[in-house]
Amino acid sequence: MNGDGPRIDTARLTLRLPIQADFEGWCELMGDEVAARHLGGVQPPAAVWRGMATMAGSWALQGHGMFSVVERASGRWIGRVGPWRPHGWPGDEVGWGLVRSAWGNGYATEAARATMDWARERLGWTDIIHCIAPDNTASQAVARRLGAAPRGPGQLPAPFESAAIEIWGSRRDL
Ligand SMILES: CC(C)(COP(=O)(O)OP(=O)(O)OC[C@H]1O[C@@H](n2cnc3c(N)ncnc32)[C@H](O)[C@@H]1OP(=O)(O)O)[C@@H](O)C(=O)NCCC(=O)NCCS
Repeated sequence: MNGDGPRIDTARLTLRLPIQADFEGWCELMGDEVAARHLGGVQPPAAVWRGMATMAGSWALQGHGMFSVVERASGRWIGRVGPWRPHGWPGDEVGWGLVRSAWGNGYATEAARATMDWARERLGWTDIIHCIAPDNTASQAVARRLGAAPRGPGQLPAPFESAAIEIWGSRRDL
């Protein structure tokens, strides 16, 4: 995998498939206890690599997955955002997670909006959800900016069944 595949340029970001060179940034994201708190908790590098490989595998198996987000001005990897529909998931999700140093710039919303447009156009997704912990106010604010509304408690499949999440969603018929 060399990052070939769908690529989206937004005003400030380039979104492309995950590549091995993203590993350092991915470790920064998943090694930060604040950022990783709602992403399943801090992981050591060997577990991070498996998570990154899962995202690349989602692209290989399903033709979609979260995009790696690159800040074009600096060229640095700042997170992963986009479609996420693993087996047993409660719906067609667009998710987001950025390294802490990239928060507060509108990047998550910019990337998510672009990937939602992409998912509607390329995957035919009409009802897009976001699985968000009840106390993750920063993520709820992103969902709200994207036009989503809360739909109540949701249930993730095993082994994530004990995670308390609410489903947010927005429907747009094509
Ligand atoms: C959730 C998360 C992505 C939100 O990031 P974020 O940077 O706050 O979200 P946005 O991209 O929408 O940016 C909005 C912020 O940028 C600010 N901003 C600055 N410049 C901006 C610009 N040019 N355009 C838009 N917003 C801008 C906004 O004022 C807002 O700041 P505020 O919340 O202090 O008012 C981030 O907190 C994160 O990665 N958390 C850890 C992982 C996680 O929890 N993921 C979600 C699991 S459900």
